[in-house]
Amino acid sequence: MMSLAARCGAFSPYLQGTKHAVKGVVFPGAVKDAVPAAVNTLYSTSPGGIRLAHTDIKVPDFSDYRRPEVQDPNKSSQESSEARRAFSYLVTGATTVVGVYAAKTVVTQFVSSMSASADVLALSKIEIKLGDIPEGKNMTFKWRGKPLFVRHRTEKEIATEAAVNMAELRDPQHDKDRVVNPSWVIVLGVCTHLGCVPIANAGDFGGYYCPCHGSHYDASGRIRKGPAPLNLEVPYYEFPDEETVVVG
Ligand code: FES
Repeated sequence: MMSLAARCGAFSPYLQGTKHAVKGVVFPGAVKDAVPAAVNTLYSTSPGGIRLAHTDIKVPDFSDYRRPEVQDPNKSSQESSEARRAFSYLVTGATTVVGVYAAKTVVTQFVSSMSASADVLALSKIEIKLGDIPEGKNMTFKWRGKPLFVRHRTEKEIATEAAVNMAELRDPQHDKDRVVNPSWVIVLGVCTHLGCVPIANAGDFGGYYCPCHGSHYDASGRIRKGPAPLNLEVPYYEFPDEETVVVG
């Protein structure tokens, strides 16, 4: 096994040298005459052979890879401890920083791979030009696969909805809490009963009417009559300018 490792490894030339040196010296008979008696006594392990110090073996020189402060074999290791410690801290710190950065990159890429792509994000918002909707009219848009009602209210509708007694409401919510600009009501066109699409400008309260089971909503999208339990949902929206609304 040792022989196999030596033949395959980087130290093969040196181990080969050791083998030959030992072979040549441990030759019975002739060795004893060639080696001084003192040496023979000192290294002899058996009557027929001796062991040498193998001083002829070439030891690889790693000086180019060793730091200057540890190259002198006569110097105490205590003297170089500060420098070695600093080097260890430097390597540890650098490895940690690189490791943390790599981990952060991997996690960021993994998480961002699960987020919506740019085309999906673009579909998640809808920009509507308000100038196209005359006062008193409701327009329906498709947003995230659902109907979206955008209603341009008249002054009369605004005043009527603002004056509604909250005690009369099934799902109490003041009109001002459902709109950003009182002139515009923006709600999802999905009945809160079983999900039908209500009809605009219809019903007993002039807002929306769901013909499926007869739910009546007012011009603020609040449920006023019928089986629906909740007001029409108000999505998030904002007005970048007076003529535009962005929903989503
Ligand atoms: S789904 Fe609208 S009233 Fe039933």
